[in-house]
Amino acid sequence: MKIRVPATSANLGPGFDSCGIALSQYLYIEIIKDAEAWEIDHSLGEDIPKDKKNLLIQTALKVNPKLSPKKLKMTSDIPLARGLGSSSSVIVAGIELANRLGNMHLSQKDKVQIATEMEGHPDNVAPAICGDFVVASYVDGEVRHVKHHFPMCDVIAYVPNHELLTQESRSVLPEMMPYQQAVQASAIANVMIAAILNGNLPLAGVMMEKDRWHESHRSHLVPHLTNIRELAHKVGVYGAFLSGAGPTVLVLTQEEKTNAMISELEKLSEDASIHLLSVDQEGVQVF
Ligand code: HSE
Repeated sequence: MKIRVPATSANLGPGFDSCGIALSQYLYIEIIKDAEAWEIDHSLGEDIPKDKKNLLIQTALKVNPKLSPKKLKMTSDIPLARGLGSSSSVIVAGIELANRLGNMHLSQKDKVQIATEMEGHPDNVAPAICGDFVVASYVDGEVRHVKHHFPMCDVIAYVPNHELLTQESRSVLPEMMPYQQAVQASAIANVMIAAILNGNLPLAGVMMEKDRWHESHRSHLVPHLTNIRELAHKVGVYGAFLSGAGPTVLVLTQEEKTNAMISELEKLSEDASIHLLSVDQEGVQVF
């Protein structure tokens, strides 16, 4: 059995802690055999545990403490701590592992609820489970989510070669916001979502760049966002926004403008990699 979980990009600008899309980079978990103790074969870095301290096993055992140990193989092309949902993908894989090994028959709603409780917000885990575009709320302990088709476009990920931990990127956010500003920030998000549902990417892209919840507070941590936005406007693509807590920036482009946008991004001096992706429509899969 093999489990595949997509990368995700949370927020899409103003949809802070609520909106997300699944992307065509993946975490794979393969069950190799029964074992005496939990063991994960991976080459993702020295800091990532290979025993039951690994987040994958911890998640699976939290969901189903009765699971018997296995030897697993983990591979991933989702960069770590870059704002592409790498830890959410592990949590979602852990839940699916417990679900399959324990014959738990969890519904998609169950999985989204459990994963959100573990992650703290639904905007990465929900699209990692459902695929495509998901809008979710996590209020009074209950998650409600809606999946919808995301309009066709290319997605360019500009991934700086340094980590930015979500915790650090959240620590710069204010605790309070004036009422009128919150009303405006919410209206911007509402129009963005409605534009996506209508297939109107030109309008959605404009609204994605008008976030009032988080991007301005994080700008000193992600100075490249402003430069990328200027380039995006020059090429005339749909829009650019901080992916989750950063430092990755996503640029949504019309297919015919993708090459021009990539050429512009390549001229930036920062040490970064550029990936041409698409929206994953399926979410977590078991083969
Ligand atoms: N909505 C979250 C944030 C996503 O921006 O902090 C990162 O986990």
